[in-house]
Amino acid sequence: MAKLIVYMTSHGCAEKAANLIGDMLPGEVRVVNLENTDPPPLDSFDTVIIGGSIRIGSIQKRIRKFCDKQIETLLKKQIGLYICCMYEDEKARVQLLNNYPEVLVNHAKATGVFGGELDFNAMNAFEKMIIRDVIGITVNISLFDEKAVREFVERMLDPVASLRSQ
Ligand SMILES: Cc1cc2nc3c(=O)[nH]c(=O)nc-3n(C[C@H](O)[C@H](O)[C@H](O)COP(=O)(O)O)c2cc1C
Repeated sequence: MAKLIVYMTSHGCAEKAANLIGDMLPGEVRVVNLENTDPPPLDSFDTVIIGGSIRIGSIQKRIRKFCDKQIETLLKKQIGLYICCMYEDEKARVQLLNNYPEVLVNHAKATGVFGGELDFNAMNAFEKMIIRDVIGITVNISLFDEKAVREFVERMLDPVASLRSQ
C-alpha cells in the first residue's frame, strides 16, 4: 500500500523534510501540502507521515485539525510525526509533544525534530521583529538536520518498531 506525507510550511523547511522523506521511502509515496490541497481519503494508505513547523510555540492550525479530524483512522495506521523548529533538544521535544495529540505521539512509529532554518529575506516585518527581539537571532541560519530525517525514515521502516506499535 502507498504512503502519504502531509505537511505544512511557512518558509520551506518542513517541505524540504517532506520531500526528503518521500525520496528516502521505498514504494509509492504521495506528498501533499495542506496549504493548497485537501488531504486525500486515507483508505488507500497504510502509512501516514505528518509534519509542520513551529511559530511562537504552535504548529500550523491545519495540521492540528487534520490530526484531530482523522484521529480514529490514524490510530489504525503506521504513523510518523515531525516538526521543524529552531529550539533544540528538550525544548524542541516539548514543542513536538505540545503540538500533536498525545495518543498519536504514543502510537507513532517514529517522531522527529529536524531543526530549522531562518531566512530574513523570506520574512515579513513582524516575523523579523519576533526573531530579532524574542529569539535574538539577526542573521540567516540553517540548523536543518538531515541525519535526523534519515534516522526518522529508518525507524519508519524498522519491522521491529512496527510490531511494537501494534
Ligand atoms: C515568526 C517566527 C516564529 C518562530 N517561533 C518559533 C518557536 O516558537 N519555536 C521554535 O523552535 N522555532 C520558532 N521559529 C523557527 C521556525 O520554526 C523555523 O524557522 C522553521 O525552520 C520554520 O519552518 P518552515 O519554513 O517549514 O515554516 C519561528 C520562526 C518565525 C519566522
